[in-house]
Amino acid sequence: MSTTLTIALTKGRILDETLPLLAAANIHPLENMEKSRKLVFETNRADVRLLLLRGADVPTYVQFGAADMGISGKDTLMENGAEGLYEPLDLGIARCKLMTAGVKGKETPAGRIRVATKYVNVAKQYYASLGRQIDVIKLYGAMELAPIMNLADEIVDIVDTGNTLRANGLESREFIADISSRLIVNKASMKMKHKSIQAIIDPIANVISKQAVNV
Ligand code: PRP
Repeated sequence: MSTTLTIALTKGRILDETLPLLAAANIHPLENMEKSRKLVFETNRADVRLLLLRGADVPTYVQFGAADMGISGKDTLMENGAEGLYEPLDLGIARCKLMTAGVKGKETPAGRIRVATKYVNVAKQYYASLGRQIDVIKLYGAMELAPIMNLADEIVDIVDTGNTLRANGLESREFIADISSRLIVNKASMKMKHKSIQAIIDPIANVISKQAVNV
């Protein structure tokens, strides 16, 4: 196994909140990751490089050891499964909730219902835990449209401010899980590169615990 550490990240708001955490571990990308079209970035440290992936692909890279570590939403981890990886830190960023939702004031029919979501596995598990039978309709985004257009009775999606639901005449129904970004580590990497990985986890954990005190 090489001694280089590869860390998988995602573009967007989460990246803005992630870079200060990496900076605390003395990891600074050598160029602006948001502006570049590159997917692999060198850092100030010869032993650390960063990957920029789609959020849903981060656990896959870490599970297969193509990346040693990554930052992934708990929603993605729940959907993807956590085989082959550890989840040592809740970074407390990108907090939201995984909820069911439906058209405001419209009762969900009894019996088998249609649920539209990109979280197919989460939805199956959740409704099964209630003993409810569902047909899952896999969508890739704009889930809020499905109940309005009668494609589905309910959706499973993340809710932050609730603005998207309100703007589309929907209401949140059942709470499924609290979501936030997690630091994940490949299990084999954790063994083979323990010292250098722990040297990244510790300062990040330190920043998070200080933030928790200041909230
Ligand atoms: C998410 C989610 C909702 C919205 C919820 O979409 O799918 O549409 O945010 O946020 P709110 O409660 O503050 O309105 P996102 O913008 O992350 O895009 P996505 O569809 O690609 O997940």
